[in-house]
Amino acid sequence: MIKFTIITLFREAIEPYLKTSMMWKAVDKGLAEFDFVNLRDFGLGPHKSVDDTPYGGGDGMLLRCEPVFAAIESIKAKDPEAKVILPTPVGEIWQQKMAKAMASGEFEKIYYQNHSIEPAQALVSSSNFSNSFHYIILCPHYEGYDERILSIVDYKISLGKYVLTGGELPALIIIDSVVRLIPGVLGGEKSAEIESFSEGDNLEYPQYTRPEEFRGMKVPEILLSGNHGEIAKWREEHSGTAE
Ligand code: ADE
Repeated sequence: MIKFTIITLFREAIEPYLKTSMMWKAVDKGLAEFDFVNLRDFGLGPHKSVDDTPYGGGDGMLLRCEPVFAAIESIKAKDPEAKVILPTPVGEIWQQKMAKAMASGEFEKIYYQNHSIEPAQALVSSSNFSNSFHYIILCPHYEGYDERILSIVDYKISLGKYVLTGGELPALIIIDSVVRLIPGVLGGEKSAEIESFSEGDNLEYPQYTRPEEFRGMKVPEILLSGNHGEIAKWREEHSGTAE
């Protein structure tokens, strides 16, 4: 069982996705749990303010420490083992091996703040899936956050070298990429294992379904041959490698 508690001001931007398809199936089967904490509930003053202007000047508003610490501490009071993830463009770039490690409870082993991720020997089989893990994802909004917030964060994760408006989309991407790897969530147990990026950085081979010919484009003959050895060889040859 893996639990994600999402601290956000915009639950409505996240929740529908988590109630759809595989994510919902994972919840239904008791393999994943999603919870929300409204940062506004911990806001300050009559307006429940969660942000303020930066010291030293500059554009925009920053997420304040007090509401964030209070929100996280309210979750940790119930589960002190929960780990805090901060989506930020200056975090470790999210990769399939990190999703895999998180799904199997080995994430700590391969994550080093401000360092590269350790190579694949930390990756594990599915033997640890029965354990229970709880991740809190803090979704900043506005122009950024008070740097002191990092003192309560375990993992800083970037979805890529671009800037998004908030942490909601990164939270969904992290959750989706992890939850689908839990055995029993995807239809075919093997499909997460063999697909793109799962083993090292191999890209998937090209695939085809019916019809055999579409607008003059034919399915490669070998795939229709029934020769499994040759098909496996063809697939191997046509697998790409991520840069
Ligand atoms: N917040 C804003 N941009 C982001 C990114 N690229 N990755 C993770 N969190 C972000």
